Amino acid sequence: MSVPKISELLSLKGRVAVVTGAARGIGYCTAARFAEAGASVLIGDRNAEGAKQAAAELSKQYGAKVIGTELDVRSVDSVEALADKALKDLGALDIWINNAGVFRGEPLVETTDEDWTAMYDVNLRGVFFGSRAAAKRMIAGAGRPGRVIVNIASVAGVRGRVSLGAYSAAKAGVLGLTRSSSMELVKHGIRVLCVTPSMAETPGVAEMREAARSKDSDGDTVAAMEKTLRASFPMGRAAEADEVARVVFFCASDMAAFMTGSNVLVDGGLTTR
Ligand SMILES: NC(=O)c1ccc[n+]([C@@H]2O[C@H](COP(=O)([O-])OP(=O)(O)OC[C@H]3O[C@@H](n4cnc5c(N)ncnc54)[C@H](O)[C@@H]3O)[C@@H](O)[C@H]2O)c1
Repeated sequence: MSVPKISELLSLKGRVAVVTGAARGIGYCTAARFAEAGASVLIGDRNAEGAKQAAAELSKQYGAKVIGTELDVRSVDSVEALADKALKDLGALDIWINNAGVFRGEPLVETTDEDWTAMYDVNLRGVFFGSRAAAKRMIAGAGRPGRVIVNIASVAGVRGRVSLGAYSAAKAGVLGLTRSSSMELVKHGIRVLCVTPSMAETPGVAEMREAARSKDSDGDTVAAMEKTLRASFPMGRAAEADEVARVVFFCASDMAAFMTGSNVLVDGGLTTR
């Protein structure tokens, strides 16, 4: 029996990928891996300048076609426009990564209606807008190989986390949407997967740490919390953003051709505890 070469399975030549929230962090590292593997990439981000700068960097580094544009996943029009741009400017839509996310936490009794909506709008409604926009166009692109949607959830959506109720609920919703949409889209040859990180060093996490530090006058509480957090990881550390991006890449590549509806944990063993 002849099997494809590993280099063919890892190649994304001829494929068009969209990554939301890719001006920085896990999204940026994912877009970089896609460009390295030969895909044309469309980066959408609320930070329009950041998206354009990221695209320019990756085009230069990998000689790939990478475009950056403004996106707000809270707006259905903005998400639909992004999907149309992939077709118009890059000629197809094969890979869609619902990565854009925001994280903030308050204890349940201090969570305002606005806090809840802020977490829900980006982390779950935005993933729904993205999945629907991508699926419609991927169905129309029948016959193209490697059509896949990858959603980024969080371990907070798998197990409880103090002060992260709204975020956890939204991320648990992403897992449900992944499973259901995978069942519907399988007949069209479209795969849907979820990647679930625990903690990765990204600008977003650094900002959260800084915000906590500025609330804590001597910094001791935050330092103690970080020590406890690191100790809770069997590997004794958080992930690098690229360590998550590599798994997103695997899911989007033909290496994962027989995978759909799965939730792939990239948690350094956290959920084994
Ligand atoms: N870093 C972690 O520890 C961690 C852990 C679990 C899950 N995640 C998830 O991974 C994803 C990426 O996280 P990160 O740590 O790289 O975040 P980050 O804050 O470093 O980057 C997120 C990017 O998304 C963009 N964004 C935010 N809201 C947007 C919107 N409404 N429309 C378009 N773009 C928007 C931001 O401008 C930013 O460029 C998120 O879905 C997050 O919930 C991260």
